[in-house]
Amino acid sequence: MSVPGFVAAATARARRGAIAGAGPSVSKAPSTSGVRRSRAWMSVSKDDVASETAPIAMSTSDYPDVLVGSGQREARQRKFSVKDAIRPELIDMDAYTPILPYEILAQRLGMEPKDIVKLDANENPFGPSPKVSDALRDAPFLHIYPDPESLFLREALEEYTGLPKEHLLVGAGADEIIDLLFRLFITPAQGESVVNFPPTFGMYKFDSDVNGATCINLMRDAEFRIPIDELEALYESGNPAKPPKMVFVTSPNNPDGSTITDSLLRRLLKLPSLIVLDEAYFEFCGETRIGWVREFDNLVVLRTFSKWAALAGMRVGYGAFPLEIIQHLWKIKQPYNVGVASQLAATVSVQDRADLLDKVEKMKAERTRFYEEVKRFDWLQPFPSSSNYVLCRVQGGRRAVDVKQQLAKRGILIRYYSSAGLAECIRVSMGTPEQMTRLYDALAEL
Ligand SMILES: Cc1ncc(COP(=O)(O)O)c(C=O)c1O
Repeated sequence: MSVPGFVAAATARARRGAIAGAGPSVSKAPSTSGVRRSRAWMSVSKDDVASETAPIAMSTSDYPDVLVGSGQREARQRKFSVKDAIRPELIDMDAYTPILPYEILAQRLGMEPKDIVKLDANENPFGPSPKVSDALRDAPFLHIYPDPESLFLREALEEYTGLPKEHLLVGAGADEIIDLLFRLFITPAQGESVVNFPPTFGMYKFDSDVNGATCINLMRDAEFRIPIDELEALYESGNPAKPPKMVFVTSPNNPDGSTITDSLLRRLLKLPSLIVLDEAYFEFCGETRIGWVREFDNLVVLRTFSKWAALAGMRVGYGAFPLEIIQHLWKIKQPYNVGVASQLAATVSVQDRADLLDKVEKMKAERTRFYEEVKRFDWLQPFPSSSNYVLCRVQGGRRAVDVKQQLAKRGILIRYYSSAGLAECIRVSMGTPEQMTRLYDALAEL
């Protein structure tokens, strides 16, 4: 099928004459206990979905093939054990450590939110376009479920990315799209693998663990380059019938800000895996391969509104996909995954992008200034970055954790690392000129 699933499904729905109104998709759920149900999630209201699910009752008469003999009776008398019921591969999984929001930080630090300089999550300190708050104030349909297709936003993105909207799917942050890819491609706990290049963004490994994949970590070198020879060797030595399903590449990479070359990407695309290229910070480097998804059927490109458009709190991201992949994502995504306010905010941001891209330029100017300013501190060694953050090695007998803590006492928050490849490193997100001056003054006091 070369059209999005929702288009084909809409045609099916029209043929059945099932439900009047907007929203184009009808997809089939697998048959359960001999009952075949159609799940018209994209074309009906939440209530309709609920009433469809209601007939799946928990009465034993619904299960004529089970719970009959004495063994089964015993099984019914046993107590429910959470530990036995949970997927075994999740029992010992480490929880993700999230970054804390302003209001919680303010409470913990005993400070006013306005006095905190938050440079720890690569957010955008300039805040959203002023047109976003105007649009949200006037939004008429906050009481109605959002458009499952995010149509207006995808139309705006069509113009922004130069890709037809049929290639684009919107999610609750790029994070949701990463999770969706795992759910589409990975059968849990079947020894399927993905490749990750640490140090990098933590969600690839997190989602790999959550979705029961084996995450093969191939470490980057001291300059954060991808070990392409090692990767190719892995495919040669491994089981050719079971190559890694996905390879996650980030450009610019978080946390160091390095980018990949065209030739490296072409080498990756020759591998028998889906290459997921995360361009969350594209606007800060200006280099994109989003158009390549029309040419390569094993490439997916991820983007977000969290950084350049300062909408991290709204949770909006998107992916660009080959048509053969996107049709399946339409079927499995939660119908109302991106809220009305978030879709509106993102659409207005694309329309008012000149203002936002000006702010991006300001953050890039702060990046240039950062390299100049830190020359004063011989104990800080910055790495080159094409993004809105700079990674620095802490040296000269100082400890990264102390730098972080000393700055936190002054209300300035940065990230520090102690993991492999990042020992004694800190990452500083670019703030406003005033915030950055406060940082340099504080560093001078340490
Ligand atoms: C490389 C990378 N990809 C994706 C994301 C997540 O984006 P979103 O906020 O859209 O979920 C981040 C957030 O920090 C990131 O650094």
